[in-house]
Amino acid sequence: MVHVVVLFLSCLWQVVGVFADTDAVKSVSVMEGDSVTLNSDLTEMMDEDLIYWRFGNENTVIAEIDVLADRITVYDDVPDGRFRDRLKLDHQTGSLTITNTTTEHAGVYQLEVKDRVSKSFSLTVYARLPVPVIISNSSQCSSSSSNCSLVCSSVLNVCDATLSWYKGISVLSSISVCDLSISLSLPLEVEYQDKNTYSCVLNNPISNQTTHLDINTLCHTCAGPDQGLPLLYIVLISAGTLVIVAVAAVVGIYKKCRKTVQEAQEVTYADPTFYKRNPQKSDVKEEDEVVYADVRR
Ligand SMILES: *[C@@H]1O[C@H](CO)[C@@H](O)[C@H](O)[C@H]1NC(C)=O
Ligand SMILES: *[C@@H]1O[C@H](CO)[C@@H](O)[C@H](O)[C@H]1NC(C)=O
Ligand SMILES: *[C@@H]1O[C@H](CO)[C@@H](O)[C@H](O)[C@H]1NC(C)=O
Ligand SMILES: *[C@@H]1O[C@H](CO)[C@@H](O)[C@H](O)[C@H]1NC(C)=O
Repeated sequence: MVHVVVLFLSCLWQVVGVFADTDAVKSVSVMEGDSVTLNSDLTEMMDEDLIYWRFGNENTVIAEIDVLADRITVYDDVPDGRFRDRLKLDHQTGSLTITNTTTEHAGVYQLEVKDRVSKSFSLTVYARLPVPVIISNSSQCSSSSSNCSLVCSSVLNVCDATLSWYKGISVLSSISVCDLSISLSLPLEVEYQDKNTYSCVLNNPISNQTTHLDINTLCHTCAGPDQGLPLLYIVLISAGTLVIVAVAAVVGIYKKCRKTVQEAQEVTYADPTFYKRNPQKSDVKEEDEVVYADVRR
């Protein structure tokens, strides 16, 4: 009984499959810059065949073959010149090849062999992926944490791309955003002593770009000799600054003291008997009093 049901189901599935196949739009993918062939699946053309290749929503004819007239024509300046020098037709099968593809060539293509065959192709052109970049996101060496903080990032202007961190061959984390001119970035924390192999992979359905993580290059610990030297400089500079400030203070204090001493000395000299012995000086009394007042303060 079970067998019969399974048999029936698989038979039904095949029938549905056949119908689906007839109507289905065949999906074809290509990497930007590569060539792609839309296969007519014809082994050979018949004597009276008229074959048309059409592109896009407008169903613009971009190529045609008239077997009877023995004529092959490529209209590569329609709709807007995007196919110029890029179309090739196979004389035997009528298959269409687009060379040096760009994302402008993505879209629906239709093959019509008059009164015989009709086929649709949906072409997806994937952009070439840039190599992802790994940088350390630890602002400085950290003695408090045993972890190194990393970020893998990539800038691209297409959808269908995923950025992932791999530990060995297993995925640790992934990010995938579809936007215009996007920057994908994905963080990772590893321990400084970690001996596993990590890699950051950018992939789309038909290709990938991989960057391997070199922990020794990107992650530094404070104990390393590289960090010791700047620290020494900081100490030296601080000490130097302290010395200069101290010297300046001492000089300032010394000058002030000397001034006070001088004033005090002037006071000594400015005793009335001294001025009396110098007749040129006038206002002796007043100056005398001013200086004394100053010192008392
Ligand atoms: C491919 O196309 C690009 C522009 O779309 C052009 O710059 C380049 O020269 C072409 N390469 C070949 C081999 O035709
Ligand atoms: C780097 O780390 C800081 C916090 O330490 C975080 O705010 C920032 O988003 C990180 N940068 C990236 C690109 O992940
Ligand atoms: C350090 O990284 C490990 C994974 O490598 C993580 O489990 C742990 O929580 C991290 N520790 C800190 C303090 O971030
Ligand atoms: C990347 O692509 C290569 C083939 O180009 C494949 O061997 C490899 O498994 C891919 N790696 C990932 C992580 O998808």
